Amino acid sequence: MRRVVGIEEWRRLAEDQRLAGRRVGLVPTMGALHAGHRSLVAAARANGDFVIMTIFVNPRQFNDPADLRAYPRAPESDRALAESFGVDALVEPTMAEMWPSYPEPTPTTVSVAGLGDVLEGAGRPGHFDGVASVVAKLAIVTGPSRAYFGEKDFQQLAVVRRMVLDLGLDVEVVGCAIVRDEDGLALSSRNVRLDAQARARALSLSRALALAAEHGGPASALREVMRATMVAADVVVGYADVVDPVTLEPLGDDATGRARALVAGVVDGVRLIDNREIELRKGR
Ligand code: PAF
Repeated sequence: MRRVVGIEEWRRLAEDQRLAGRRVGLVPTMGALHAGHRSLVAAARANGDFVIMTIFVNPRQFNDPADLRAYPRAPESDRALAESFGVDALVEPTMAEMWPSYPEPTPTTVSVAGLGDVLEGAGRPGHFDGVASVVAKLAIVTGPSRAYFGEKDFQQLAVVRRMVLDLGLDVEVVGCAIVRDEDGLALSSRNVRLDAQARARALSLSRALALAAEHGGPASALREVMRATMVAADVVVGYADVVDPVTLEPLGDDATGRARALVAGVVDGVRLIDNREIELRKGR
């Protein structure tokens, strides 16, 4: 596995791969790697891509400085894991090259209005501006044919897809299925901050989604079921919503067919999110 830090070397490496006729697959991460990231690399390898993984803890997507400080960082083990996943090149860009003005605000921002303002965006103002800005920069420097994102961050995936469409970036955005632990908890770098008790309460998120999927509708009843399930586990509910899978607009009680249920909650100071495809059924 090649290791790259400087932006010029990174740009050249990707360019050399393209010139050699290979397709570059970008797996952007913030490190603290786990099996969810492994699945993104596996998808890129299955497509035959030259896999470039980036690790950059992007301060611009944290609206809470305490959350940024607490974000897990494990550079040494991440390097070993990236290699074991089959990454071809690992890029760990510096802050000075990613956001030269930092810690002063960066003048240039990519913002996806609407999609970026609801759900996670409503509770974390500026979060998706930070995500869209960093993903745009990673994609522009790397020039990948494909970029891989987990469906656990379902709204992030929708925001990135929209940004790619609106900016005309020549990259296919590939969404990869959520990877869960055996008990159902969606894998997240933040899970390492949960002790056994908090983890048991965190399971209410995936349980809420499973109950919603079984229930089938109407949408307002699903919202109530999900919220009640998380509240019963002493989770501070951020949201529990049923939305259109593309526009993320909340669905009314007359909606039927494919929808997405999304939940967010805080357990012992750790913010967790999860989601699941559901089928809203008629006549309930
Ligand atoms: O999903 C993440 O880890 C981050 O939001 C991303 C896409 C790497 C941007 O910083």
